[in-house]
Amino acid sequence: MILKGNFIWMPAMDRLEVRENAWLVTSGETVTGIYDQLPPEYAGQPVEDWSGKVIIPAFNDLHIHAPQFLNRGIGYDTRLLDWLDTYTFPLEARFRDLDFARRAWKIFLNRLWAAGTMRFSAFATIHKEAAWALMELTEQSGLRGLVGKVNMDRNAADNLREETAASLADTEELVCRSRAELKHVGFILTPRFVPSTTAALMEGLGRLGERYDLPVQSHLSENPSEVDWVRQLHPDIPTYTQVYEDFGLLRKDKTIMAHAIYLSDGEKALLREKGVTLAHCPCSNVNLSSGVMPLRRNLEEGLRCCVASDVAGGHTAAMNRSVAAATALSKVRWLSHPEEAHLTLTESFYLATRGSGAFLGQVGSFEPGFQFDALVLAPDPAEDLLERTPVERLEQFLCDGDDRDIAARYCGGVLVEKPFDTME
Ligand code: GUN
Ligand code: FE
Repeated sequence: MILKGNFIWMPAMDRLEVRENAWLVTSGETVTGIYDQLPPEYAGQPVEDWSGKVIIPAFNDLHIHAPQFLNRGIGYDTRLLDWLDTYTFPLEARFRDLDFARRAWKIFLNRLWAAGTMRFSAFATIHKEAAWALMELTEQSGLRGLVGKVNMDRNAADNLREETAASLADTEELVCRSRAELKHVGFILTPRFVPSTTAALMEGLGRLGERYDLPVQSHLSENPSEVDWVRQLHPDIPTYTQVYEDFGLLRKDKTIMAHAIYLSDGEKALLREKGVTLAHCPCSNVNLSSGVMPLRRNLEEGLRCCVASDVAGGHTAAMNRSVAAATALSKVRWLSHPEEAHLTLTESFYLATRGSGAFLGQVGSFEPGFQFDALVLAPDPAEDLLERTPVERLEQFLCDGDDRDIAARYCGGVLVEKPFDTME
């Protein structure tokens, strides 16, 4: 495939590359190169001509709850533990109904597509059939990523609590089935968080992780009451992070922990040593009054961080909104911590493209060998009164863009059309 346009990408957090009127050539799923002049060997081949348009890497959202998409925006005058009990758990219990689940998954996948998220790591629910349906529908959609059946065997209502052995058996079944039947969607171990999973369950999941070499996703130190609760549940283990480590759930370079706001220096050292990716979820942390992650400091201390939506703690799946929110929240922190420079808008953009893509492979950039995942930005010409540079168009899209501003979406080297007709 050959595309023409104005390409912007970030090979590093402090490097914004802009190539105007350039050609990008792909081979199969990946980028071959970007050229100011089309190399002669490609002459005469069809070109996807996006001249005048800005083309950026698509978003990768490493922390999103697929069932909760239906609850976005609701109940934010509570804090985490009440919000889970009042709004989140009752909704997730409904996914026992497979027909309901399939309808919800299609709405979810259509929305991710529209917003320009081509890859993600999602929590499904505890239900094996619903989780499998999300994996299959994701594969059909042309989007890619990781999906986990949630594990919960304590501190939940009867309709959302599993037997430990069944939770482990269902998880293993999905690991095997997805490996046999799916190409572009993988399974990720998904213990909800320490208060939802007994020691026996965490230990069993740790063993599955080892046996099948699986990635892991969960929540860590999001809210002070949650952190206290973990201390009460595991008085013999010194920190929240250490609980996951003791049960084999900090798998080296294969673990995503969402939030990670209240960390000791010792916890940070362990997370760094294990190469854990911290998913910073600014919308969620503000909506649920959870706290402000010291993002700049964490990055400077060598922790891997990315920006994620955490729908429905976050109110929107549109990652440009989380990019803008991460920047804004970082500025608020800077006002009271002037020694921690705030993130720039493009640094946050990096954390939602190449930064998060690193967890999934060579993803999130237009460097040679990277998966070609891209969004073509095309603001409504009727509203286009001023000449703008490509970078100004990117800034405007990140702060106030939506799906009307995206003319095309590519994932793994192919154009992806709207996945589902939800009226079916
Ligand atoms: N901690 C445990 N479960 C959840 C969840 O669904 N959302 C958020 N934001 N935090 C959690
Ligand atoms: Fe979450």
